Amino acid sequence: MTDKRNILVTSALPYANGPIHLGHLVEYIQTDIWARFQRLRGNTCYYVCADDAHGTPIMLRARQDGITPEQLIATTKKEHETDFADFLIGFDNYYSTHSDENRDFASSIYLKLRDEGHIHTRTIKQAYDPEAEMFLPDRFIKGSCPKCGAEDQYGDNCEVCGATYDPTELNNPVSAVSGATPVKKDSEQYFFKLSDFSGMLQQWLKQGHVQTEVANKLDEWFEEGLKDWDISRNAPYWGFEIPDAPGKYFYVWMDAPMGYMASFKNLCDKQGINFDDYWAADSKNELYHFIGKDIARFHTLFWPAVLDGAGYRKPSAVFCHGFLTVNGQKMSKSRGTFIKARTYLDNLNPEYLRYYYTAKLSSGVDDIDLNLEDFMQRVNSDLVGKVVNIASRCAGFITKKFDGQLSAQLPETGLYNEMVAAGDKIAEHFENLEYNKAVREIMAQADKANVYIDENKPWVLIKEADRKAEVQAICTQGLNMFCLLMTWLKPILPVTAEKSEAFLNTELSWTGISQPLLSHSINKFKPLLTRIEKEQIETMTHSSVSEASIATATKHKIKPAQQAVAENSEAVSGTTNAAIEPIATEISFDDFAKIDLRIARIVKAEHVAGADKLLQLTLDIGNDTKNVFAGIKSAYQPEDLEGKLTVMVANLAPRKMRFGLSEGMVLAAGPGGSDLFILNPDTGATAGMKVK
Ligand code: 2FM
Ligand code: ZN
Repeated sequence: MTDKRNILVTSALPYANGPIHLGHLVEYIQTDIWARFQRLRGNTCYYVCADDAHGTPIMLRARQDGITPEQLIATTKKEHETDFADFLIGFDNYYSTHSDENRDFASSIYLKLRDEGHIHTRTIKQAYDPEAEMFLPDRFIKGSCPKCGAEDQYGDNCEVCGATYDPTELNNPVSAVSGATPVKKDSEQYFFKLSDFSGMLQQWLKQGHVQTEVANKLDEWFEEGLKDWDISRNAPYWGFEIPDAPGKYFYVWMDAPMGYMASFKNLCDKQGINFDDYWAADSKNELYHFIGKDIARFHTLFWPAVLDGAGYRKPSAVFCHGFLTVNGQKMSKSRGTFIKARTYLDNLNPEYLRYYYTAKLSSGVDDIDLNLEDFMQRVNSDLVGKVVNIASRCAGFITKKFDGQLSAQLPETGLYNEMVAAGDKIAEHFENLEYNKAVREIMAQADKANVYIDENKPWVLIKEADRKAEVQAICTQGLNMFCLLMTWLKPILPVTAEKSEAFLNTELSWTGISQPLLSHSINKFKPLLTRIEKEQIETMTHSSVSEASIATATKHKIKPAQQAVAENSEAVSGTTNAAIEPIATEISFDDFAKIDLRIARIVKAEHVAGADKLLQLTLDIGNDTKNVFAGIKSAYQPEDLEGKLTVMVANLAPRKMRFGLSEGMVLAAGPGGSDLFILNPDTGATAGMKVK
């Protein structure tokens, strides 16, 4: 083996406002396996990560939940850490971008960039919500798509026709925060002059630090010319204030990658590791970032430029992977394929997914598909049917007939050595992130081991009194082959490997691999992995569907303007590593039954000063009177309504509007405009009657 390497690896930092799901896990599993592989090869490999704790979506989510951002990020971090630990993601440190270390990095790096002349200010026009009194990120502006006219589309792209555009192009734009119409407002912002680093970046990219597909994409950006990057946001914003600019905050994407450094610094301080050995400009140690292809630009342009400008080293490589699809389609809440880490863990062993993803992952940026049927078959046939089966076929004989003792010699040293030799190829595949090839090779070796046992039939020989020694030797051969397989699988299946170590009474180490276990005593075999049953998968998908409908019902209780933010919170979290289909509108009968529909008498109807579409209604529902603002001005004059009956949703949470509190909704039908019908025929119903 070559000299021991010193490596630091990271995975993208998940946003602290949503749960970890199977899309995220592609990357954490990919990185964790690589880190474990490196350690197994005798290298030093630290794996750090953190929650990405800043930004508008987190600020608004906390506001919506009635808690402080600090509370939100603390709770989320705990949940993330538990999910990761249960998926056997072995971080050396899991931290937060909202930390003292990160504040220090953000500030010192910024000041260095400023002093070197890479920061300048410029006044720009941005969308502003006059009601919420805040500037709006693109994703918080909704309106009709300028290309296809689809309503309720976000400010950056249309989910119906796929068009991308500027939020200023949206028709009838509204703020997703308050429902108000955004206005344009001037403000001074701080820009990082990315173009100062154009030459350096082009050079760096030529040196093979990114995959070819990514380099090609970057070429397009170079051709367009590198634009200055706006690294500031105006208050109110949840993040770090810029040191020399009160009221201005670092844009979340400025301090997020510094979170890699902050988490590592925190680890260094705890363990006495030298931080500079890994981050100084002349560091010889290796630094790798694993990310999803959607955030390549941040990691392959902005981040290396910021590092370079601030006098730090650049990454040795940035590894991009594709998105996850489930059953060949975008993850879908209504189909039950938007699966949270926790829901999976409630039903299935994490190692199954680790194995399946490994079998699918390559070094490219193609999407990977989790086909649930194939997942079950593959795990059952490869892990249970091939690998574990070898141990269970041989262990019983050794324990029962030979007092747990392996024989002194292998009957087929050549076969064993051939298998050992395959380890080099397997190691190369792991090293190059060609995990699918590594798995293919491991399973080819498992097939060989099974053929060997099938041909030698220890279960037949054991019946012949004079051939006992042969049985011991065959099973010794089988168990040594199992030992090799489990060593190679150890980065993927750490728990099964640990159980195998207990059973084989040895440590599985890649360096010790060429020495078979001979005249060695093993422990009693206990089942290592069980088969996946179809019901487990069904229960998991059913649970995912119900979670999604509960989430939808909950969303309907919050005020519509905020609802847009809640729905968006995962989409805003860029690194979902998954293609996610929006939730379908289907609800369960139970959800429907929660809606309290009442006949209401319109006691009073009035115009609302300053409102184009609203009428203010005072509704008598028998035991109570409700104040409702209804968007029906286009169809009714107030005087037409007074004294009439309508149907209202009486248990909708009150919603604070610009004009006052709205305490429910009236039901209306029709295409809109003047064709909008809210009245039920007066058939003797009385106010307060429940609508059945
Ligand atoms: O896209 C995302 O989910 C971001 N939270 C990833 C940040 S990675 C790093 F730069 F911090
Ligand atoms: Zn469209």
